[in-house]
Amino acid sequence: MATVVCRNIVKNYRIGADIVRALKDVNVSFEQGEFSAIVGPSGSGKSTLLNIIGCLDKPDQGEVKINNIIIKDQTKKALADIRRDHIGFVFQTFNLIPVLTAFENVNFVLSLKNSGSAAENRGITMKMLEEVGLKGLEHRKPLELSGGQQQRVAIARALVKEPALVLADEPTANLDSRTGESIMELMMKLNLNKRTTFIFSTHDKMVMEYARRTIDLHDGMITNDQRKKP
Ligand SMILES: Nc1ncnc2c1ncn2[C@@H]1O[C@H](COP(=O)(O)OP(=O)(O)O)[C@@H](O)[C@H]1O
Ligand SMILES: [Mg+2]
Repeated sequence: MATVVCRNIVKNYRIGADIVRALKDVNVSFEQGEFSAIVGPSGSGKSTLLNIIGCLDKPDQGEVKINNIIIKDQTKKALADIRRDHIGFVFQTFNLIPVLTAFENVNFVLSLKNSGSAAENRGITMKMLEEVGLKGLEHRKPLELSGGQQQRVAIARALVKEPALVLADEPTANLDSRTGESIMELMMKLNLNKRTTFIFSTHDKMVMEYARRTIDLHDGMITNDQRKKP
């Protein structure tokens, strides 16, 4: 069963009298455990596609299925639950809450879920922070961390609830290349350990090299879709 199915996705943006055709009939599916890159220049539709897969935005036409759930049939409340339970996001600009510590930025995700005691959740959060290499830095706030460390917090936040799917929109774009590589190594390790499906976007050649599959997006259309041999 595929984690994600996108069928005939069309998305237009209207700016005054102009229409930007951001996605033109996109068809793509992702199997559980894949590690895929959506690759294309700025403006090709990468963020639009990731936001639609992540149920943050709706397509004008077409259908998205996550874990066999048809997204357009869901109520607002059901969609919020799907996002909370099945999808983790990593953003280009980290998007951490500045007044919370690294620990709190990760832990609050678990408190939203209403499962597990506070003590259990604290233990899970500490283990996750250790896994992304932040042991000892739990009490720092985002501005007291480097860019790479902030992105590690964001990855911990995305993964702590063990989602089936992690979406990362140009996760290394604001990092120097060495830090970017360490972030890719970390995502690859988590993908292998947990069989989490990862879809990330990039226009960086170094980042593409990490992908097991690359999907080229140009002007809102998929022009190539290639898996590396195992
Ligand atoms: N909210 C928006 N309003 C209007 N146009 C948008 C909006 N978001 C994206 N676009 C346009 O849609 C196209 C695809 O954008 P985007 O998905 O952000 O591409 P990428 O992430 O590959 O840079 C671009 O032409 C962009 O200008
Ligand atoms: Mg983008």
